[in-house]
Amino acid sequence: MLENNQEFYKICFENSREGIIVIDEFGIILLANKRVEQIFGYKPENLINKSVSILLPKKIKKSHEESINNYHKKPYNREDFDKRDLYGIHKNGHKVEVLIGLNYFNLDGKNYVKAFISDISDYKKKEQVIRSRNFELEKELKIINKELKAKNKQLSDTNKILLKEINFKIEAEEKTNKALKKEIELNKLKTEFITVASHEFRTPLSGILTSVTLIDKHQKNNQIEKIEKHVNQIKTMVNHLNSILHDFLALEQLSNSKITYRYKTFNPAELIHEIIEETKLILKKNQYIKFIKNNSNHEILNDKRIISIIITNLLYNAIKYSLEESLIIISSKIKNNKLIVSIKDNGIGIPKDDQKHIFDRFFRARNAMEIQGTGVGLNIIKGHIDGLGGTISFKSEENIGTEFIFELPHYTIK
Ligand SMILES: Nc1ncnc2c1ncn2[C@@H]1O[C@H](COP(=O)(O)OP(=O)(O)OP(=O)(O)O)[C@@H](O)[C@H]1O
Ligand SMILES: [Mg+2]
Repeated sequence: MLENNQEFYKICFENSREGIIVIDEFGIILLANKRVEQIFGYKPENLINKSVSILLPKKIKKSHEESINNYHKKPYNREDFDKRDLYGIHKNGHKVEVLIGLNYFNLDGKNYVKAFISDISDYKKKEQVIRSRNFELEKELKIINKELKAKNKQLSDTNKILLKEINFKIEAEEKTNKALKKEIELNKLKTEFITVASHEFRTPLSGILTSVTLIDKHQKNNQIEKIEKHVNQIKTMVNHLNSILHDFLALEQLSNSKITYRYKTFNPAELIHEIIEETKLILKKNQYIKFIKNNSNHEILNDKRIISIIITNLLYNAIKYSLEESLIIISSKIKNNKLIVSIKDNGIGIPKDDQKHIFDRFFRARNAMEIQGTGVGLNIIKGHIDGLGGTISFKSEENIGTEFIFELPHYTIK
């Protein structure tokens, strides 16, 4: 039976890959196998009955004795090799790096410890080589990283510069495009205006020519009254031509955003009175203007000249697009820090289909074609109202009448 064969146990003991030492509770070596000789240089028989401290470095001998005592007081099996860096002392005095596992056992009331010892010097040497290689690699990596970072920075700096240049170019191109567009728009506007204006100029000019011819004729007959009538007609027509030219200037200024609004205090009710007085000259037979001033009879801060242009245009339209014997009601009020003005007539009205284009430049409704006009008045005043931060709206029904209402904010009552 193998289990009773002493030789069998001996072979198992001697042929172990680990060095095996058995010590008693005083740290005295009782058994050591051949592998211990390869690790520490001592023949096993020379270790028997020696203290295990012979294999330990001087500086841990004392603490080792204490730990042996503690270990025997409270023994435990240290199955895993200790992770700590341990080393023993070779017979020649050099250090031997080892891993040690401890087994405790008790026989006949006495405690013993069996130590399994692995020589890991080679492994440690390799580990050291790997570690220093790693260290070198890390160093190299750091240098490469540093270089990469520098290159990255260089690249991102170049990128930034490039991006700036591109943006600059795009911006410059956009500006040129914008200017070009504006130029084209302005040219188109001028051409359109010249077409409309030259058409509009024809009637008053031929009227002026007729009046001048007649004045000449009446002069010979000394008919002063008739001469006066034609002189007035010439004045009206020159005024009309003048207003067309004014429109042209206004259009050009609006298109170039050249207008700067000048705010000063004025009384809106008084201004409307003045405008009504001026327009009386062009009223048709039995046309009346009624003014309801509500609470607008005190000073406000806004651009008087522009507001005058807006109201005059709307009132001229109301007169122009209403028949004789009609009533025009203009009312103004101040509400929530806004000047609100309404101009209402019972004239020809604006056809439903045309209403959406009414503020477009040069647009004229189909029922207004027989009446003089260039179709820029509403477009101009819409530009001004936008510029002053206000709004304009209208209600209209063909052959019933039209009401325009505008609101201008941001004024202060003095
Ligand atoms: N009170 C109104 N009643 C009916 N139609 C109107 C009225 N006001 C404006 N319109 C319509 O709106 C169009 C545009 O008006 P806008 O004042 O811009 O131009 P216009 O009166 O034709 O010419 P002008 O540039 O000389 O004022 C007019 O042609 C007309 O068809
Ligand atoms: Mg008009």
